[in-house]
Amino acid sequence: MSDFQIFSPKEIESLRHAGKILAQTLELMGRLVAPGITTKELDRAAEEFIRSHEGATPAFMGYHGYPATLCTSVNEQCVHGLPGDYVLKEGDIIATDCGVMYKSLYTDACRTFAVGRISEEAQHLLTVSAQALANAVSVIKAGVKVGVISSTVQGTVEGAGLTIVSALTGHGLGKTLHQFPDVPNYGEKGEGPKLPAHTLIAVEPIVCTGKDGIKESDDQWTINTKDGSLSAHFEHTLLILEDGVEVIA
Ligand code: MF3
Ligand code: CO
Repeated sequence: MSDFQIFSPKEIESLRHAGKILAQTLELMGRLVAPGITTKELDRAAEEFIRSHEGATPAFMGYHGYPATLCTSVNEQCVHGLPGDYVLKEGDIIATDCGVMYKSLYTDACRTFAVGRISEEAQHLLTVSAQALANAVSVIKAGVKVGVISSTVQGTVEGAGLTIVSALTGHGLGKTLHQFPDVPNYGEKGEGPKLPAHTLIAVEPIVCTGKDGIKESDDQWTINTKDGSLSAHFEHTLLILEDGVEVIA
């Protein structure tokens, strides 16, 4: 698809319902993240919570064969961390990325959490990455070009001395998990298509403390920073409105 998908009021109601379940799933993850829990246990809890709502299913499961509900990306893992036997320890950071599907519509959101006490460097990374997403959200409304989002994220991240992981981008979503347009985390204000009202995008800064570059791992899914530096990921699914955005999840 190379055009924007526009949602009807009825579809928007379904998206709101999915988004609410997704936001609650991520809040639950925030309460469960602690030293001693495994990423697989987090995944089980997320799946159980989502499926406890009639008609809601984990959106990532089965996507290109993905076998889990969550992506759990710890420390130098940027995205698509596969849940497993890893036991979280004090000082780690963990991104819990999740999607909820309801009435054939997709939502996608992520938060990165501190495990107990973390280093100043890790805290700076979390604060700046979350701020980059918040700053982007504050400039979006119908008629704004995608490049405005990109340049806002880039300005926030680089202004704070951190690095955009440039290979990973946000995206349109709705009927599918990834669709037109790409929403890069770097670029110029004047670039990209203009956002129409009632379309849906996922904005997702993925930021690291070292050099730009990624490396795939043996499990076929997890993507790491090439230099092993720490990485954080925050993501919202956003509905574009005439005068701003609605945070769906
Ligand atoms: N939030 C992830 C992204 O936008 C979705 C991962 S789907 C998975 O890339 F199947 F790779 F888990
Ligand atoms: Co996404």
